[in-house]
Amino acid sequence: MPSSDSGSSFLLMAHANLMVTSCMAKRALIIGVTGQDGSYLTEFLLAKGYDVHGLMRRASLFNTDRVDHLYHDPHLAGAKLTLHYGDLTDGTALRRVLHTVDPDEVYNLGAQSHVKVSFDIPEYTAEVVAVGTLRLIEALRDHVMHRGRLVRYYQAGSSEMFGAAPPPQSERTPFYPRSPYGVSKAAAHWFAVNYREAYGLFICNGILFNHESPRRGETFVTRKVTRAVGRISQGLQDKLYLGNLEAQRDWGYAGDYVEAMWLMLQRERPDDYVIATGEAHSVRDFVQLAFAEAGLDWQRHVAVDDRYFRPTEVDALLGDARKARRLLGWQPQVTFVELIRMMVARDIDLARRELAVNQAGFADPARGAALAGGD
Ligand code: NAP
Ligand code: GDD
Repeated sequence: MPSSDSGSSFLLMAHANLMVTSCMAKRALIIGVTGQDGSYLTEFLLAKGYDVHGLMRRASLFNTDRVDHLYHDPHLAGAKLTLHYGDLTDGTALRRVLHTVDPDEVYNLGAQSHVKVSFDIPEYTAEVVAVGTLRLIEALRDHVMHRGRLVRYYQAGSSEMFGAAPPPQSERTPFYPRSPYGVSKAAAHWFAVNYREAYGLFICNGILFNHESPRRGETFVTRKVTRAVGRISQGLQDKLYLGNLEAQRDWGYAGDYVEAMWLMLQRERPDDYVIATGEAHSVRDFVQLAFAEAGLDWQRHVAVDDRYFRPTEVDALLGDARKARRLLGWQPQVTFVELIRMMVARDIDLARRELAVNQAGFADPARGAALAGGD
């Protein structure tokens, strides 16, 4: 992937920026703050002393579960996390929030991020993921021009952009996306590269392979499996229906991956980086290990249901992250087995709470029961 050679503008601005901000807390703006990665990144940046501003969507139910533990009443002194309403489909709001926050760093993590759902709502997915990114970097371009100071921007790219390209995949592997989501992420990637080259903006594309955690959305396969393991272990569920068990993924831990996002933005020049563990496992491996972690035999509980197959599948993802290791000094800390252990432990705990509530006679349908089948 080409990186910008129109570097002098952001180097000069970087210097000026450094002088201005050296004695002030840095400000970060996170689009998608309520998501899995948004919550880990918020924790990471708060620990580094940043003032964090997050863009959140309006929803009819609370959607801040993942950041509630980080939030302090803004009426009290010292609040370091501020939330703003906005949406990647609303350019006016994006401009307003950029102007209000005047950030040093912007992380665009916002997306309709479910690959299978992108086949059901392709236009919306493209509107948020591709055009939404364009809207945001257009607003960024104007903001940087008017303020005359450097703003570092991170774009959440995905290994889904590689799609059918054979593994291992690196920064030099051509994209061959296999879903409306993958195509939209590829468009966003190239918008970002183009704006870096055309306008000298400091934009980095992270090409992140799958990363999971106990905060992972419950319709992604890893969490769908560990939630089921937890509930089956407590006798709350018996069957788990899945799709393609043969797909291979390079799964890492989300907490490790947000550090890589930040490291990219601390470099002198913007560039694109693959972030991955360099280890691939099948969905079947994940299932078997997760059930075994709870002392269960997966073959007694798992059934395959065609409805969870995708019209076009990404068969095998395996990242070559040597560039990130060399230039960012980044490497993952949590292993595949540790990740499974962490997720299963959390979901057994959740299932125990559900059971205790049931036994006390207060049974409610599980949160998200209408989506229990998953996607
Ligand atoms: P996630 O949990 O699905 O979070 C996505 C975030 O985007 C949520 O905060 C969501 O808000 C927000 N969002 C959705 N539509 C939006 C819109 N129209 N305007 C503004 N915000 C919107 O995803 P994640 O796992 O944290 O991933 C973060 C980013 O990395 C995403 O762009 C994803 O596509 C990309 N990525 C993820 C992985 C992975 O394995 N996790 C790998 C590669 C790339 P709500 O909470 O209100 O839904
Ligand atoms: N979700 C889901 N549900 N996936 C299943 C199921 C199921 O019941 N059964 C099998 N799978 C397979 C999918 O077909 C896919 O091959 C694999 O499990 C992983 O699916 P997901 O966990 O939904 O993730 P993904 O790889 O499609 O996409 C995730 O990773 C991308 C990075 O490569 C998402 O986080 C994307 O946003 C991200 O860009």
